[in-house]
Amino acid sequence: MISISKLTLDESTEEAVLRVLRTGQLAMGQETVDVENAFSKRFDGAQCIAVSNGTVGITLALAAMGVGPGDEVITTSFSFIGTIEPIIQLGAIPIFADIDVETSNISVEEIKSLITDKTKVILPVHLYGRPVDLVEIRKIAVENGIYVLEDACQAIGAQVEGIGEIGSTGTSVFSFYGSKNIACGEGGLVVTDDPSIAERVKLLRSHGSIETYKHQAVGYNGRMTDLQAAILRVQFEKIDTVTMGRRGNAQYFNDSILNENIVLPPFEVGASISCFHQYTLRLENRKYRDDLQNWAHLHEVETRAYYPYTLSGHPVVKELGFGVSCKNAEILANSVLSIPVRESLSLTEKEHIAEVLSAWQPHLS
Ligand SMILES: Cc1ncc(COP(=O)(O)O)c(C=O)c1O
Repeated sequence: MISISKLTLDESTEEAVLRVLRTGQLAMGQETVDVENAFSKRFDGAQCIAVSNGTVGITLALAAMGVGPGDEVITTSFSFIGTIEPIIQLGAIPIFADIDVETSNISVEEIKSLITDKTKVILPVHLYGRPVDLVEIRKIAVENGIYVLEDACQAIGAQVEGIGEIGSTGTSVFSFYGSKNIACGEGGLVVTDDPSIAERVKLLRSHGSIETYKHQAVGYNGRMTDLQAAILRVQFEKIDTVTMGRRGNAQYFNDSILNENIVLPPFEVGASISCFHQYTLRLENRKYRDDLQNWAHLHEVETRAYYPYTLSGHPVVKELGFGVSCKNAEILANSVLSIPVRESLSLTEKEHIAEVLSAWQPHLS
């Protein structure tokens, strides 16, 4: 089976982990400082705070922006649930905006129509590694005096022409969960060019204290361990190769999957330069999607539907009273299918994937 995600952990990772084990300092030691500094240099001096995972990173950043009970956070109707759990856990209200079908990302027009005097934050997601329209979203935020927090959990290495790399301006959160473009098992990073947000996130990450046992706030335990940090430091060096490899594979598939029943993802849209965390196809409907998935599986190509349900219509979200119907998100939930695009695919594997997908005809009885 050609797997959709596969992490390459080489000897330098083994050495890094052993180095940490030998120091006996497993948490909040030099490795965490080193990885934070490396990211900070990459992101033009923005402050980087390493945390235990992306979900915790979003929680800490929203809390640092002052989000609490009754506040509204406008977010996308189509993402992983880790985008909205922090909003709900903080007692705030997720306000779901529909998406653009072509980009899979939050619609700017929808955001505009959902702003109220309770809106505190816009939380867009760079889904599948394709950046949202940041210029427009930041403009709306400035006009309304609200924050933007970018869920960049899938977007390490992505860029926006005219702005630069995701993370180098504004406030964003990355995830380094095992299946991400670069990974350390569980891990996250809050990146911000706003010193007051950085200070608050640092405080909240570690039980509300900077000085041991002097608690200035009721915080969280959101720290990264030095073992995670050491693995991440090795992975950090691979960001550009991984991104280039994935983009090259995406281009390859765009040129070589020839099938009128499959809609391929656009390579670029507007100013957004995707890091292709996922290469996601669209099918006519759920039956076609399931049929193609079975066909691919039969021919040893792993595929996944990210995501088979919308956030805005998910039963658990409806039960809480936050559910709304978002037409475009529902279209994608019924039709998307991601195929392997990882940089480690060999030419033979890519050729096989393209052949299998080009040969598929819907088998609908
Ligand atoms: C879009 C998105 N948001 C949030 C998260 C949560 O990140 P983590 O799994 O590191 O908590 C993920 C990753 O899994 C994600 O893909």
